[in-house]
Amino acid sequence: MKHTARQLVTVISLMMAAAGAAAASEIPQIVKQDGRFALMVDGAPFVVLGGQAQNSSNYPLALNKVFAAVQDMHANTLEIPVAWEQIEPVEGKFDFSYVDTLVAEARKNKVRLVLLWFGTWKNTGPSYTPEWVKFNNARFPRMVAKDGKLTYCLSPQGEETLKADKKAFVALMAHIKKIDEAQRTVIMMQVENEVGTYGFVRDFSPTAEALFNQPVPQVVLDHKKPLVPLAKTGTWKQVYGDYADEYFHAYSIASYIEDIAKAGRAVYNLPMYVNNSQRDSTENPVMPWKDNFASGGPNYDVIDIYRAAAPHIDFAGPDIYGPDWKKFTASMNLFQRKDNPLMVPEMSNAAEYVRYTYLVLGRGAIGFSPFGIDYADYSNFPLGHKAIDKTMVEPFGKIYAAFRPMERQWARWAFEGRTYGVAEGDDRQPQTFDMKGWKATISFREWQFGEREYFKKVTDLPAGTEIPNGGVSIAQIGDNEFVIIGQRARVKIDHAEGKPSMWARVEEGHYDAAGKWIMERNWNGDQTDYGLNLTGNPVVLKVKLGTY
Ligand code: DGJ
Repeated sequence: MKHTARQLVTVISLMMAAAGAAAASEIPQIVKQDGRFALMVDGAPFVVLGGQAQNSSNYPLALNKVFAAVQDMHANTLEIPVAWEQIEPVEGKFDFSYVDTLVAEARKNKVRLVLLWFGTWKNTGPSYTPEWVKFNNARFPRMVAKDGKLTYCLSPQGEETLKADKKAFVALMAHIKKIDEAQRTVIMMQVENEVGTYGFVRDFSPTAEALFNQPVPQVVLDHKKPLVPLAKTGTWKQVYGDYADEYFHAYSIASYIEDIAKAGRAVYNLPMYVNNSQRDSTENPVMPWKDNFASGGPNYDVIDIYRAAAPHIDFAGPDIYGPDWKKFTASMNLFQRKDNPLMVPEMSNAAEYVRYTYLVLGRGAIGFSPFGIDYADYSNFPLGHKAIDKTMVEPFGKIYAAFRPMERQWARWAFEGRTYGVAEGDDRQPQTFDMKGWKATISFREWQFGEREYFKKVTDLPAGTEIPNGGVSIAQIGDNEFVIIGQRARVKIDHAEGKPSMWARVEEGHYDAAGKWIMERNWNGDQTDYGLNLTGNPVVLKVKLGTY
């Protein structure tokens, strides 16, 4: 049968539309290859350039102030809570009107959503549970302290609590599926928020005691090697000694979360993760809990236990509220593992943290999201930025604006292991790292012209470098080719074996919507004679080097 040209065009466009629709409706998932991870959104690697709203902005009439900040930040994703108390204020009666508005507004604003399930635990406490849960100790038991007193924290052994939380979460997932399956605005779920317990190492209720004195489950033994080897099998105390209380609590909470995540994913299989209020990432040796962190949370020392107990949780992410460079770097090393993709679900939005954007994205994280990106009248200073205005988001916004046009390329390069990142250290010293065949040296507080030794008498330092504020992310896109993005830093790249080399091209530009590089100018002369000197205005450079 012969087709007219017009029929053919129609058939082809229908096929293209079908292919497009298929790609757009592919469910987000985290995939792993060669020990690296990608968050796949619409069938391709995606990096969350995120911002997290404040805790109480999860209401329709509060969203304007959130999206205004998200837009100023040039974020591609908003992380925002969905509270159990708001979707099920009366047991069994669900209200998803907020979720509907949120998803519609996110689409209007062209951003994706990561939803934070504030259920049984929010910063360890039950403040986001509905009133019918909060005050019913008989049905929803609180943890019992060693001295027999009730604690503030809901017990992970509470069977009714688990049943009720799971029911609400499953209802939420079913609703998201119903309204979003075709568009995938919601790309990931955080299950609970900063779990664990402050001030109490674990539950000492009779139920918990009985479990604590049972043999450690084989799956835990398989994953978690004791720091101080004792018995190979036996009760928690026999196997893990002084660490047993914390490990048992971690296992109890992780198992509880697993049950919720598994049930939720059975309904709608989005990626799911847990976030962590951190213990000191530089503690060496790692000591048993001593009232110094939230026991049982997904800290770096118990990621293995979370992996064992919660296979439906894709990863644990560190929330970072300490600007110390050594600790920040240590956290990245501890959470970026072959079995745990790196994402920083929360980080302070204060100025000292801006530099870490480059470190985290350069390390190939699947996501990054400063906290408090929201113009609601509240500041979590001194943890975060003091002023609630554009000065809070602009420093991040400039970086995101530079990354955004190449966000998909960046995510792919990260997945392929081509990316590197540094943040200026608190010591302000140069940093070096090896790439394939090349070595990068990044220095800070430099002027754009000349080498320091030429101008020994000059003691001025560039404005904007009063606090450590420099950072660079590099993707090695070919043997001798790099995409460089950064600020307040000088970048030099030398041949790994010391061959004489020089810049071949240093193009400043951007990727267009079709993924094509658009050169705006080629840096040469003063602009390249003393390394590539990046100011407070992040630019994207496509660089080629050669040897002679
Ligand atoms: C970490 C929590 O996860 C957030 O919800 C928030 O409470 C910040 N701490 C502090 O502002």
